[in-house]
Amino acid sequence: MKRNILITGGAGFIGSHVVRLFVNKYPDYHIVNLDKLTYAGNLANLKDIENKENYTFVKADIADLDEMRRIITEYKIDGVIHLAAESHVDRSIKDPFTFARTNVMGTLALLQAAKEYWESLPEKYEGKLFYHISTDEVYGALELTHPEGVEAPFTTKASSKDDMAYGEEFFTETTKYNPHSPYSASKASSDHFVRAYHDTYGMPTLVTNCSNNYGPYQFPEKLIPLFINNIRKGKPLPVYGKGENVRDWLFVEDHARAIDVIFHNGKVAETYNIGGFNEWKNIDLIKVVIKTVDRLLGRPEGESEKLITYVPDRLGHDMRYAIDSRKLQSELGWEPSLQFEEGIEKTVRWYLDNEPWLDNITSGAYERYYADMYGGK
Ligand code: NAD
Ligand code: DAU
Repeated sequence: MKRNILITGGAGFIGSHVVRLFVNKYPDYHIVNLDKLTYAGNLANLKDIENKENYTFVKADIADLDEMRRIITEYKIDGVIHLAAESHVDRSIKDPFTFARTNVMGTLALLQAAKEYWESLPEKYEGKLFYHISTDEVYGALELTHPEGVEAPFTTKASSKDDMAYGEEFFTETTKYNPHSPYSASKASSDHFVRAYHDTYGMPTLVTNCSNNYGPYQFPEKLIPLFINNIRKGKPLPVYGKGENVRDWLFVEDHARAIDVIFHNGKVAETYNIGGFNEWKNIDLIKVVIKTVDRLLGRPEGESEKLITYVPDRLGHDMRYAIDSRKLQSELGWEPSLQFEEGIEKTVRWYLDNEPWLDNITSGAYERYYADMYGGK
């Protein structure tokens, strides 16, 4: 079937993997990548597919309702995969308003524009779906009841290091929302709007909540790429608090594959959790990253541990996230493909092989390039 799919935030980290997957896998689809190109949006993430016939890039702000109406109508959009967002928790603590504007008002504008366009079409118009990408952070924080870790009750290919869990509880699709940071509060609000558009107007929507992603093209403000970059440059590695917080890590291409499966086979109005059952305490994960970078750079393994610098904790720092993704696995047959150690090796190699990509971002050169090219940000 020919389709016109709008992917928002496609110049960002996860979005670029989703755009690449869809453009390559579905030559009959027209993929429209809509992105404002904020500091986090980088078209260099999509160099390999930018000239494909079934791909179009549009620079726009999702909070601009008239623009959303115009674009959805012009490209006859029948499916939306919505990833555009402000995504960094630390930035949300400094500047919550930008998060409310993009994540809440932007999502609302996009929803409204899609609703108006779809309502104007004949009933037989098939395949309409507004798929909203969200985060496990909306569920709040779990307790660290087993600081040393116990045998995990569930495993997937993504888990490793003897499959440890740091508590008995997991986020499921029915866990009550309890966001703590301005970022997660804004994502929770957008999730509620998406569901409200289904419940009130009958709009075909779907929401997924995913755990921490890692892999190529992640902006080097997030833990793993920041640390890889600092290790290669011999700069301090700022560990928040005691480094005891736990996150559940998933390789970004596995998230993109889950999005593909859910977009095509997920049930309207459902929620699916996506995660790797792959819990790591920050400090343990950091040591794996350090060893891998040192080894690949030919340094004595673990030498860069001397760069670890404990710094004051993030305000309101959530202690533990752990996702139960068994619903997605049993109903739609998705499973992560990579073990964490393989994923980290692949990730570190990618950043070290793509130093110009990192240097370009950390020097601010690409922001100036896009400011010139598109007349400012
Ligand atoms: P990112 O910050 O790397 O990319 C976000 C993209 O959105 C950028 O390209 C940016 O230019 C664009 N954008 C921002 N504001 C915009 C606006 N007003 N209009 C149009 N485009 C705008 O983020 P990411 O890590 O790739 O996350 C993508 C989505 O996945 C987000 O919705 C995030 O909440 C969600 N998510 C992320 C993770 C993770 O670990 N990174 C985990 C679960 C869910
Ligand atoms: O759980 C999903 C979320 O994962 C996504 O919704 C967010 O968009 C994404 O940014 C990520 O949020 P986190 O806050 O978990 O990711 P971050 O990489 O910022 O931090 C991971 C952990 O590492 C967290 O416990 C804070 C800690 N940390 C982070 C940085 C940047 C440090 O100790 N030092 C650092 O310098």
